[in-house]
Amino acid sequence: MIIARNAVELRAALDSNTGSIGFVPTMGALHIGHRTLIERARKENERVVVSIFVNPTQFLAGEDLSKYPRREEADFKICQLSGVDVLFYPEVSTMYTHDEVSIKAPDVRGYILEGAIRPGHFDGVLNVVMKLLNLVHATRVYFGKKDAQQLTLISQMVQNFFMSVEIVAVDTVRESDGLALSSRNVYLSKEERIEALKLSASLKRASHLVIQGVRKSDEITKVMLNILEPLNVEYVTIVNRRFEAIDEVLIGDTIVLVAARVGTTRLIDNVWM
Ligand code: PAF
Repeated sequence: MIIARNAVELRAALDSNTGSIGFVPTMGALHIGHRTLIERARKENERVVVSIFVNPTQFLAGEDLSKYPRREEADFKICQLSGVDVLFYPEVSTMYTHDEVSIKAPDVRGYILEGAIRPGHFDGVLNVVMKLLNLVHATRVYFGKKDAQQLTLISQMVQNFFMSVEIVAVDTVRESDGLALSSRNVYLSKEERIEALKLSASLKRASHLVIQGVRKSDEITKVMLNILEPLNVEYVTIVNRRFEAIDEVLIGDTIVLVAARVGTTRLIDNVWM
């Protein structure tokens, strides 16, 4: 595995070979969810590039960037064992200068739900993903469905800027009891982890209701909110694939989303229907 720390090293590593490139952008602290993305990229491409970059511009003032888990050695090992060809591991000064040209998340879709709770977060995500895609020249880029709004906005950016990369959406990986994998799960105490299962339980119930023929969004979200009691729920909502709120579930074009705090840990989860 080649470790490239800047654009010149990255180009040297990639230009010496041809063939499709599968790219998995990450902020490190790699878990099985990331490994699933890497494995998928491995299967579908001749070469696999992973980036590890804790992107400062997607953290808001007051969000502690310095506390974001950093596990360089373990992450490098995971990449090596997963058959990654090139690991891109840039410094902040490689990725950003000052007084830059930047892009902005769409006014509505970028500022609802996650974007309302973290205003400006998606501006940072889109800017760094645009930069990374321009650096890597990937054939396919892999994102988890768990960050559904991020995935939708990146897909929109790729469309709006006529970028030629193919976006591959990969199913959320769960623990055997249903908890969606997340770098934040490490912050949960034993008791909080049990409470956190209410998120996936509420989504499972939503799926059952839909299977039973219930379609009205408010009926489904009411049941979910009962299951989520007494968690501090930030939102429970039902949207279409364009992230527009919908009154009725339409199979094949629906995402049911939940965000809640368990203790001080903020968790999100969703199910695609
Ligand atoms: O999902 C993430 O880990 C980050 O938001 C991403 C896409 C790597 C951009 O920093």
